[in-house]
Amino acid sequence: MRLTPGGVHSNVRLAGARDFIQRAQGAWLYSVDGQDYVDYLLGQGPNFLGHAPGHVIDAVFRACKDGVIFGGQHELEVRAGELVLEALGWADLVRFSMTGTEAVQAALRLARAVTGRTKVVRFEGHYHGWLDNVLISERDGRWGPASRGQLASHLEDSIILPWNDAERLADVLERAGEQVAAVIMEPIMINAGVIEPRAGYLEEVRRLCDEHGIVLIFDEVIAGFRLGLGGATERYGVTPDLATYGKAIAGGFPVAALAGRADLMARFGTGEVNHSGTFNASVMAMAAVVASVGTLIDEPPYDRVAEHGTALMAGLREIGLARNLPLRVSGLPAAFHVSFGDVEVTDYRSLQQLDLARYERFVPVLVEHGLWVAGRGVWYVSAAHGPKELDAALTRFEKALTQWVSA
Ligand SMILES: Cc1ncc(COP(=O)(O)O)c(C=O)c1O
Repeated sequence: MRLTPGGVHSNVRLAGARDFIQRAQGAWLYSVDGQDYVDYLLGQGPNFLGHAPGHVIDAVFRACKDGVIFGGQHELEVRAGELVLEALGWADLVRFSMTGTEAVQAALRLARAVTGRTKVVRFEGHYHGWLDNVLISERDGRWGPASRGQLASHLEDSIILPWNDAERLADVLERAGEQVAAVIMEPIMINAGVIEPRAGYLEEVRRLCDEHGIVLIFDEVIAGFRLGLGGATERYGVTPDLATYGKAIAGGFPVAALAGRADLMARFGTGEVNHSGTFNASVMAMAAVVASVGTLIDEPPYDRVAEHGTALMAGLREIGLARNLPLRVSGLPAAFHVSFGDVEVTDYRSLQQLDLARYERFVPVLVEHGLWVAGRGVWYVSAAHGPKELDAALTRFEKALTQWVSA
């Protein structure tokens, strides 16, 4: 706090400002005070292969010995591009950047350039980065800027709709479709509640975008490479025009990507649409992508992750049931949501019917008992979580809950 506002370098970490981690390995974090934690936050998602995956760290070190950034191209970029496109299966071209926030900005700019339109349809509860034209929050039922100092005018071109409601989208596009450049969404709304799309919803969104000449952008910064090699696009079988990736793509290193159709992406290559960044596709980043995506292709951990996540979700539910508590565990094994309440959740509004505040109050108790989890209820499972971690997690959760309800 003496050196840094709030003691943190990202506002997402404000709640845990007093927690200092000394080191991490696999699915475990170790604090400077000697506490160990089973980690289900994974650094907000990137550590999908577990912390400090040896071969990724080695590959990065080896590659960086010969320089990190050149202002010119290097061969690892080519290999990283090949692997990412092979993994995705549907996209023709890829551009790398440092953060998901930047990849989203590139996608939106490209969509506007291609269509010559300005408006963007996006959805309640979906997060697309922290910049002025995408950061929103809800107050008293109204959506607007989430931060003081944010230019409200940068949101004037945003049409913010409830998600998972194809009729509402059709209605809006019927009236304003000709002004809409892009529809952007998390194809599974992981940031708020880990809510899956209703059957047929993504297909209908795809159809409406085609009908109105709108670019469909899937923001797969969380889902990509985590739900499977092809992310949500593969899982739900609906193909966007552009998609953004990050987090699980690079074993903990700062890398994001925008991938998409050749006829759209080519506009960056002609210089017609600007996408830049001093640190884009550095040797560090590309070595991390090659090692990480290479592993995901050669030794897919997805069955293991699903096994752990499924057992963990079931175990947590049982613990809640045994205490007659309305502990709600929903979502997918690789990313699920824990809260209190019992309602059908299909979008941001129904999510608010849960007792999210009660779970948030419980989280510091979980942390005290050695479970590293996020206040907003999302749990991430990594390839490094196994039976030992499952045992530890359930034992610690049970103790924490017992202590908390009896306090
Ligand atoms: C869906 C989604 N899009 C974009 C972002 C922004 O990515 P970054 O934090 O790397 O800028 C995030 C970050 O959590 C995200 O979850």
